[in-house]
Amino acid sequence: MKHLLSTADLSRDEAVHVLDVAEEMAEVATREVRKLPALRGKTVVNLFFEDSTRTRISFEAAAKRLSADVINFAAKGSSVSKGESLKDTVQTLGAMGIDGIVIRHPASGAPRVLAEADWIDVPVVNAGDGTHEHPTQALLDAFTMRRRLHGTASRGKALDGIRVTIVGDVLHSRVARSNAWLLRTLGAEVTFAAPPTLLPAVDRPFGAAVHHDLDVALAEDPDVVMLLRIQQERMNDAFFPNPREYTRHFGLTAARTAALSERTLIMHPGPMNRGLEIAGVAADDPRSTVVEQVANGVSVRMAVLYLALTGEHEAKESAA
Ligand code: CP
Repeated sequence: MKHLLSTADLSRDEAVHVLDVAEEMAEVATREVRKLPALRGKTVVNLFFEDSTRTRISFEAAAKRLSADVINFAAKGSSVSKGESLKDTVQTLGAMGIDGIVIRHPASGAPRVLAEADWIDVPVVNAGDGTHEHPTQALLDAFTMRRRLHGTASRGKALDGIRVTIVGDVLHSRVARSNAWLLRTLGAEVTFAAPPTLLPAVDRPFGAAVHHDLDVALAEDPDVVMLLRIQQERMNDAFFPNPREYTRHFGLTAARTAALSERTLIMHPGPMNRGLEIAGVAADDPRSTVVEQVANGVSVRMAVLYLALTGEHEAKESAA
């Protein structure tokens, strides 16, 4: 892996390999000294043009646990506010000597532009681009499902036959798209449950089945229910649903939580709108993996940085 731009670029074997390397990284987190020397001497830039809590901080923690130096760049407070372009920003950082870029950008496709341009030749990791993709979120979600469903014997395994229902604002969600590609690559069955106004207007979006009634979708007894955040900042008034109506029809309410099977996982990428798409009791339920997802995000991002910056995967391919 040189870059990680989209989960659609990952083969099944590559995706399972990332999850297996993440298992090794998770083991490091249990040690007294939670650090590996793998990226000593390398510098990673966190280039964030959009707000973030989980992704930015976990990429920083991941790089530091691999002994890399980290430069945190936030567009707010930088010369971007004076009109500096992405190209000039990246070339300015490149002049200081960097070995990898983690980028979050409001424009869909910005990470691919950066990876394919000749402005700088370093690995690029997409940390969320507009409404397009969020590949490390999907990888950490798959890692969390694999650990919960296969336990300690999860190495080498995919998610064959696992049924995942993704609920809510699919239209504006980069998490939904990256998850749909990756989960299907790993053998899972994906269903979207959403109102027509919050779905792409195509049959089987990203290869997923569709229900417009959450209760019908939940009656199919999925292994995983993943709630999506209502992304008010990306909607105009025509899309934004009436909150009370939305919760009634598509929220994981206390009543719907109580009716779920004992083994059904409740997932949310965060940040959550408690009381809108997910009730507090659902977020805090023992079946909820919300906090675990955050912890697993560090291990998965360690794996991605390690594979991208050491070129381990490329070396294996050229030796084969
Ligand atoms: N899930 C996610 O991307 O969260 P942040 O926006 O806090 O990074």
